[in-house]
Amino acid sequence: MGNKRIVIVDDDPTILDYCRLSLSTLAHIECETYTSPAEALSRLQRDSADLVLSDLQMPNVDGIDLLKQLCHGESYTPVVILTAFPEVETAVQCMKLGALDYLTKPINMEELRITVQRILENEANREELRFLQHQLERPFKSAVPMIGTSPAFSKVLTTIERIAKKNVEVLVTGETGTGKELVSRRLHGESLRRNKRFVPVNCGAIPESLIESELFGHEKGAFTGATAKKPGLFEYAEGGTIFLDEVGEIPLLMQAKLLRALQEKTIRRVGGRQEIPVDVRIVAATNRNLQEEVQAKRFREDLYYRLNVIPIQLPALRDRLSDIPILAEFFLKQCIQSLNLELEGATAEFFEVLKTYSWPGNVRELQNVIKRSATLAVGSKLTADELPENILTQVRSLPIADDQSGLGFLELRETQLESFDRQYLTSLLSKHQGDVKRAALESQVPQASFYRWLKRYDIRAKSFKSSS
Ligand SMILES: Nc1ncnc2c1ncn2[C@@H]1O[C@H](COP(=O)(O)OP(=O)(O)OP(=O)(O)O)[C@@H](O)[C@H]1O
Ligand SMILES: [Mg+2]
Repeated sequence: MGNKRIVIVDDDPTILDYCRLSLSTLAHIECETYTSPAEALSRLQRDSADLVLSDLQMPNVDGIDLLKQLCHGESYTPVVILTAFPEVETAVQCMKLGALDYLTKPINMEELRITVQRILENEANREELRFLQHQLERPFKSAVPMIGTSPAFSKVLTTIERIAKKNVEVLVTGETGTGKELVSRRLHGESLRRNKRFVPVNCGAIPESLIESELFGHEKGAFTGATAKKPGLFEYAEGGTIFLDEVGEIPLLMQAKLLRALQEKTIRRVGGRQEIPVDVRIVAATNRNLQEEVQAKRFREDLYYRLNVIPIQLPALRDRLSDIPILAEFFLKQCIQSLNLELEGATAEFFEVLKTYSWPGNVRELQNVIKRSATLAVGSKLTADELPENILTQVRSLPIADDQSGLGFLELRETQLESFDRQYLTSLLSKHQGDVKRAALESQVPQASFYRWLKRYDIRAKSFKSSS
């Protein structure tokens, strides 16, 4: 973390020197001193401080005015008043206006140090609390097991084991729902950083204008609406791992800034000047083909190499068929337990049929299908007939052989998969009259991925709108 910035204001320079000297024994603290409150204020409006120590009686702007400005509304800065007039009334007035404490002159060195330390610690705790609230909304799922024994998946597990404890950048790629986030969490959970934070950032969901301040934070007044300083997610992730999900969505300008942060291992808040050192491990994920993005000049080549030190490519579910029954059984057990169902399991045919479906939504789709079928099940064992209609239609209409086509198994399979995708996407869009949001919701595929599927097959949602 960067140093804590303390601003001291007093019209008497000897007091300033005395305070600076007293605080010089504390670690990670930087003092800035001002004899003019007006000057201090204008500086504080540009770059906020972690704590302000201010005299009460000064020419022009006095301590009370300063206090009113600093403790007003959201732009809150902790203030401690230094006063030679320890009248109770003034002290009470200061506290009412938001001062955290007051010290009477002559100032006692030890008392000053203790007060400053206590306030900085309290502030750090408040930030921690804010962070914990953020984490509670999205709990850290390090305990989620990773299921799979197929060769393709075992390779992934071996790589994770080999690199988790090493401080290298990892780029996780794979189709939607293949487990990219799960792998990233596992990498953190198995690393030496596991007791620090895992901070997931969905780069595709943050508006372009906000991404820099989300990642790097901002100073007070950095832009309209920046009424208080805010540390960014990199600072929150200090000592831990930051997970840059959908990293391919980061705009080019921000890519340059990210590269700089990775190289220098420092960040600068928006509107700030201080270089803040950060110790964060980067794990990035994408379901785009980043190499293609580099070719198309939508992704910086230098950043690509910087992120892709260790690549982990997750196999699609249809490319690890032997894992399907194991995963299905695992999800089924989970459902039975968490939903308190009176199911005993599923028939062998049920698991077999699952293997013949193409799973465009991969593990997530499988998980949802199991949950839906289990919830609606009538007997004591789930049967293949209870699978969703779209799965049954696909698996039961497979052309086993067509002598005339001349196509081999793999080619036939490819055309089938593609035609399924197209059919599924177009009928769903037509059902929802081109409303991608609703279509995506029904498909249980995140909207961003849904758009990518449409793009892949060059399907235009607009042409399904009822007016056209
Ligand atoms: N090997 C696995 N074992 C158990 N659960 C898994 C496995 N792989 C994925 N899952 C589960 O599947 C769901 C989707 O995984 P995850 O969110 O990690 O996918 P993703 O690749 O990040 O998807 P997207 O590209 O859509 O963001 C999660 O609920 C996850 O727990
Ligand atoms: Mg994901």
